[in-house]
Amino acid sequence: MLGKKVLLCVSGGIAAYKACDLASKLTQQGADVKVIMTENAMKFVSPLVFQALTRNPVHFDTFDELDPAKIAHIDLADWAEIAIIAPATANVIGKLAHGIADDMLTTTLLATSAEVYIAPAMNVHMYEHPAVIQNMNQLDQWGYHFIEPGAGYLACGYVGKGRLEEPLKIIEAIKNHQVKPMILTGKKVLISAGPTREKLDPVRFFTNRSTGKMGFALAEAAANLGADVTLVAGPTELDIVNQRIHLVNITTAEDMYTEMNKYFPDSDIVIKAAAVADYRPKQVFTEKMKKKPGDLSIEMERTKDVLMSLGERKTKQFLVGFAAETNNAIENGMEKLKRKNLDAIVVNNVATEGAGFGGDTNIVTYLNKNLQQHQLDIALKTDIATSILQFIHQDLKDESN
Ligand code: CTP
Repeated sequence: MLGKKVLLCVSGGIAAYKACDLASKLTQQGADVKVIMTENAMKFVSPLVFQALTRNPVHFDTFDELDPAKIAHIDLADWAEIAIIAPATANVIGKLAHGIADDMLTTTLLATSAEVYIAPAMNVHMYEHPAVIQNMNQLDQWGYHFIEPGAGYLACGYVGKGRLEEPLKIIEAIKNHQVKPMILTGKKVLISAGPTREKLDPVRFFTNRSTGKMGFALAEAAANLGADVTLVAGPTELDIVNQRIHLVNITTAEDMYTEMNKYFPDSDIVIKAAAVADYRPKQVFTEKMKKKPGDLSIEMERTKDVLMSLGERKTKQFLVGFAAETNNAIENGMEKLKRKNLDAIVVNNVATEGAGFGGDTNIVTYLNKNLQQHQLDIALKTDIATSILQFIHQDLKDESN
């Protein structure tokens, strides 16, 4: 923390008292700490406490422009290297997720390009409310980092999750995150994500349950680790925020084949997380199919196996596939790794609760061609994405030794 410029943003919850300890510990560890408080935070703790602990003035009024040469909130936003919101109330999380900037704290946070860490603290039911969860997911997608609250006795009398993490643990979490080396700097990473859609007629198509979350998480994680990322994505509802990700939208398995093969020669690491259709209707109707008495059979033909084609033309690329399995996951995954000439495969048993399509979590095993296995516990897809990229990095390092 030595010499780090830390902006501590204190919003209005009873845990504001713990933020005093956080300010003190950060200062003791050599950080230069400036504090912004919301009006409600000042009902719990006096700004004077933070001023005395940090030896810096405390900011709370957007229009309190002490230096005519500067705009205070922009100046603070630019100054900060790290911003910590502790405690982060449901209200401040909601405002940030919706771009609302109506006080000094939210205005500054909207203007900063510092890494922002959010340490929520609230009643357990508030923390579990779908609105709060959706807002946190949105911020997570935008690259904000959450420091989860602990479970225990809450000031409101409930026992549950919602207690501001202990100041030393907050600092530890930030330190661990800060030292994450940019292991993929200079690497070109090509990722595929989402489902494909195979048209039958102007109003109907065949698709699958993939939402693209795992592939998008991989793209974000790779960009955060320094890579240049191209993401070839089938139809999903997800957005990409990281400017360094080049998004290529496709619809069919044939489009996926074309685009993946186009970017393949120039790529160093290629990860096929997409759920590509194996079959498409043999005949595509230009007019809407009319119903007729009796059953209907639709003749399907095979699509190209994109991953297999990449495995055949592989030169320098480290090629990683995904295997969605419902039984004998590891054996089936290993068989696919060999058959498709892969360097590694990420196997998930989509029949297990907490794994597979749609959800925010996954349970996967990473297998490489040297038969090494890394089994990951259930975790957020965003965290699994980082772990997968770390395994790939390690395998590449081992290969070059
Ligand atoms: N894949 C592909 N093109 C296809 C089908 C699959 O590139 N037409 C890729 C997927 O992106 C994934 C891997 O192959 O990385 C494995 O996909 P999966 O559906 O698990 O297996 P399949 O090869 O389709 O085999 P099976 O249907 O027998 O399980």
